[in-house]
Amino acid sequence: MKGLILSGGKGSRLYPLTYTSAKQLVPVANKPVLFRVIEAVRDAGITDIGIVVGIDDNARQVREAVGRGNRWGVKVTFIPQEAPLGLAHAVKISRDFLGDDRFVMFLGDNVIQGGISELISQFAHSNWNSQIVLTRVERPEQYGVAVLGEDGSVVRLIEKPKDPPSDLALVGIYMFDHHIFEAVNAIKPSWRGELEITDAIQWLVDHGYSVHPYIHRGWWIDTGRPDDMLNANDKVLEELKHEIRGFVDKESRVSDNVTIEEGAEVINSVIRGPTIIGEKTRIVNSYVGPFTSIYHHCVIENSEIEHCIVLEHSVIEDIPARIADSLIGRYVELRRSPYKPKAYKLTLGDHSKVGIL
Ligand code: DAU
Repeated sequence: MKGLILSGGKGSRLYPLTYTSAKQLVPVANKPVLFRVIEAVRDAGITDIGIVVGIDDNARQVREAVGRGNRWGVKVTFIPQEAPLGLAHAVKISRDFLGDDRFVMFLGDNVIQGGISELISQFAHSNWNSQIVLTRVERPEQYGVAVLGEDGSVVRLIEKPKDPPSDLALVGIYMFDHHIFEAVNAIKPSWRGELEITDAIQWLVDHGYSVHPYIHRGWWIDTGRPDDMLNANDKVLEELKHEIRGFVDKESRVSDNVTIEEGAEVINSVIRGPTIIGEKTRIVNSYVGPFTSIYHHCVIENSEIEHCIVLEHSVIEDIPARIADSLIGRYVELRRSPYKPKAYKLTLGDHSKVGIL
């Protein structure tokens, strides 16, 4: 089997973070979501992986970050998509890479509990034409939605319905054989101008091909929005095997479920887990509360922070109130300003969101 990972698209729901970088490279528990996806595919025994990327600067960053895949022991082939014309379009342009092999398609911004090894081995040993993964969600209108018949078979699939007929959402993991190419060539763009994979799977059902539903019972998160990112961070941090590899001084208190990465320093501070402190980051006279990921080369000094993701090279100093529930980008400086006039002095990118006390 082959793997197809989708890492194109614009990531507009994560602006401003994704103006300058691909959403699939935003880290969850200090590891880019895309790397977690590659590992899940590799752990399922698949080593031939195609990654669909755009043709913009974000794509260049993805190519640079992933390289040829040697780090994971896999072979990566990049497949450029000239515009995000839909998930089925991504399948269409990957025909040469996929050939007639059975394959798994995994959306590069999805995080799922428990990996996909069981799913892949089920599909690999079956003669189904497709297997889809479904899970119960509270807001089905935000996803592709499936209706199952009384015998449990797939009857209908609708992309982001206004009035959802069920609460079973399509998780961003799909398995296909080569018949999917007939489907993606037959369907027309949807109202949002995209070739929808949901419509392609409906085409398979309508033409008598076997589409097997698998109900996933653990957690699953599509990291489209900042809240989803924090939510995924919570879940992954809770399941991480924690380890102290950096320096913690005698004055600090660090709970068991905390990871301190190489070269990080914790000085006179309190760190409550689950939390991860990245390489070469310094935490000084501060409190870092549960469910927080601070990436590499950051400084947190004389401040309190809880339930946050902070990206690389950011500095937070002398902030008088606790920072919570926040997603802070790269090279951000958040400091108390001693200069007059006494005022908030902000340099914020487009689509920034700030909550002031
Ligand atoms: O996450 C699950 C949902 O993913 C499913 O329930 C929906 O049925 C499915 O259509 C999809 O919906 P989204 O609106 O969340 O898809 P999104 O546009 O966010 O794209 C998902 C990933 O695929 C993302 O990593 C970007 C990438 N992508 C997207 C498009 C449209 C591409 O690489 N190329 C594309 O043309």
